[in-house]
Amino acid sequence: MDETVVEKKKVVLSGIQPSGNQFTLGNYIGAIRNWALMQDSFDCIYMVANEHSITVRQEPAKLRENTYRAIASLLAAGIDPKKSILFVQSHVPAHAELAWILDCYTMFGELTRMTQFKDKSAKNADNINAGLFTYPTLMAADILIYQSDLVPVGADQKQHVEIARDIAGRFNGIYGNTFVLPEPYIPAMGAKIMSLAEPEKKMSKSDPNENAKILVMDKPEDIMRKFRRAVTDSYGEVRRGEDKPGLNNLITIYSVATGKTPEQVEAEFEGKGYGDFKTACGEAVVEMLRPFREQVETLMKNKDYLDQVAKEGAEQAERIAMRTLRKVQKKVGFLPRP
Ligand code: TYM
Repeated sequence: MDETVVEKKKVVLSGIQPSGNQFTLGNYIGAIRNWALMQDSFDCIYMVANEHSITVRQEPAKLRENTYRAIASLLAAGIDPKKSILFVQSHVPAHAELAWILDCYTMFGELTRMTQFKDKSAKNADNINAGLFTYPTLMAADILIYQSDLVPVGADQKQHVEIARDIAGRFNGIYGNTFVLPEPYIPAMGAKIMSLAEPEKKMSKSDPNENAKILVMDKPEDIMRKFRRAVTDSYGEVRRGEDKPGLNNLITIYSVATGKTPEQVEAEFEGKGYGDFKTACGEAVVEMLRPFREQVETLMKNKDYLDQVAKEGAEQAERIAMRTLRKVQKKVGFLPRP
C-alpha cells in the first residue's frame, strides 16, 4: 500500500480595499508583494474588499474603476490566477450573509475596543455609520468562510484577525467544530511602513499630505522628490535607533527594495550623509516598482481580461464559501430552502 500522505496545503486568505485610486508603498511592501511569494507553498485566496470600502463614502464610478485597478495591481504584483483564487468581495454574496450571522455572535464591547474603529470614527466624525462599527465581523466572515489558516496582513490589521479568531472560537464553543481558527501572518520586515513626512505615523492612503506617502503608480521623479524630502533626524548617520523612526523606516524600505539586510545597508552607507542615502532609497524604490507600474498600465487597457479573471475567481471562491455558509446556517437552525 502506498504510505505517502499528501499533506494538505494551508489555506491563506487576504484582502485589500480598492478605495483611493491606487495602493501605497506600505500596501505593496506590507501586503501584496508577500501574497505573491506565498502562492507556491499555500492555497491562496486574495480578494478586492470593495464592501469594506463603502464604510467611507465613495464615488460610485471611481469605486468601479478603482476595483479594476486593484485587480490589475494584484496581477501586476505577481498573483497568478492559475495558482491562486483572485476575486472581488461583492461578487460572492455569501460573505455578507455570514457577516450577519457572525454579528449575532460578536459583542458590542469587543467592537468598541477596535483601534481602527476609534481612528476612523475620529477621522470621519460626520459619518460614523454602523458599517464602520461592524467592519470586523465582515472581515471575520471573509476569513472564516474559506476555513483560512493564515491571514497575511500588515501590523495594523492584526487586531482584526484576532477578533475573527475569537468569534470563530466562540461559535465553535456553542455549535461544535465549524471554523478553522485563523492566525495573523505578519511579515518580519515591512509590516508597518511609516509616513515619510511624520514617521511616527503609518503610511496611509488617506493621508492628505502627498509627500507623506509613495503611491505605487507615482512617477519616478515624484518618488525621488518625496524621498529627498523625507523627514530624518539630526544625527547624520545611516544607522537604526530607537529614537530614529525616520531612519528606521528608510532603512526598512531600502532593505526590502534591494534584498539587503539592515546591517548591510548600514555598512554600505558608513560615513555617507543622508542626502546620498535618500537618493539611493528613491532609486531603489523606482526600480522595484517600475515593472509593476508598466504591467498595471498594460492590464488597465484590457478590462475584458480583468473581467474574466474576476469571473473565474468568483466562481471558485463561491463554491468554497457556500459550503461553509450552508454548514453554519444548518448549525444555527435555519430551515433549508425546500
Ligand atoms: P487595507 O486595504 O487598509 O490594507 C491592505 C493591506 O496593506 C497593509 N498595510 C500596510 N502594511 C505595511 N505598512 C503600511 N503602512 C500599511 N498600510 C496598509 C494592511 O495591513 C493590509 O494587510 N480590512 C483590510 C482588508 C480586508 C482583509 C480582509 C484583510 C478585508 N477583508 C480579510 C485580510 C483578511 C484593510 O482595510 O486593508
